[in-house]
Amino acid sequence: MPRLGVNIDHVATVREARKTNEPDPVWAATLAELGGADGITLHLREDRRHIQDRDVRILIETVAVPTNLELAAAADVLAIACDRRPTQATLVPERREEVTTEGGLDVAGHTDKVTAAVQQLQSAGIAVSLFLDPDPRQLEAGIATGAEAIELHTGAYAHAAANGKAVDQLTELNRAAKQIRAAGTTLNAGHGLTYRNVRPVAEIEGMHELNIGHSIIARAMMVGLEQAVRDMKRLME
Ligand code: PXP
Repeated sequence: MPRLGVNIDHVATVREARKTNEPDPVWAATLAELGGADGITLHLREDRRHIQDRDVRILIETVAVPTNLELAAAADVLAIACDRRPTQATLVPERREEVTTEGGLDVAGHTDKVTAAVQQLQSAGIAVSLFLDPDPRQLEAGIATGAEAIELHTGAYAHAAANGKAVDQLTELNRAAKQIRAAGTTLNAGHGLTYRNVRPVAEIEGMHELNIGHSIIARAMMVGLEQAVRDMKRLME
């Protein structure tokens, strides 16, 4: 069974909607760990729209499971990663106008920049993963950087699965997984995975880790809402 990395960014998104101190993503990370998360994933975006520098610092100091910090190959966030030293850093593309990480990193088009970022992180003792589309050319370039892992972007698969047409995308993911395994690189995957579509991806041979955020946080809100209302009513009585 693959490891489950729980992405807690959405907890910080709710907090930032009011610029207050709740809900705390560090607290959420601890609860995820109690629930059996094998790792905690968080994305320090350049615009700091959800996770803040303080979250990275306290979370890495607090949780006992491995941490996976997603970041762009940009000097300021690379410096923070090297200073805070998560277990793993995942290099992702970043555009300010996007809602979430919409495509994989263009490592084939920016080989020197990405390789330099991989080496900078590795020299700080951090394992590196690259978030890539299941595109043979990108995978080849990604493997050549010497990164320890590649996380396959499952967004296209998730989109197809929602329309009942996942077969072609699953074939793509399996082919990409084979290419990654053959290179001896660790195979991870994530993005858009849900309670409905996770199974075929979890079954891919050699799958080491799945990073899942939106679907888990969405479910947590739903299964916790009844109790939260009851608690408020009790206080009001
Ligand atoms: N993996 C990476 C690299 C991501 O950027 C994200 C989204 O932040 C995820 C996994 C999790 O995606 P989702 O929230 O759709 O489960």
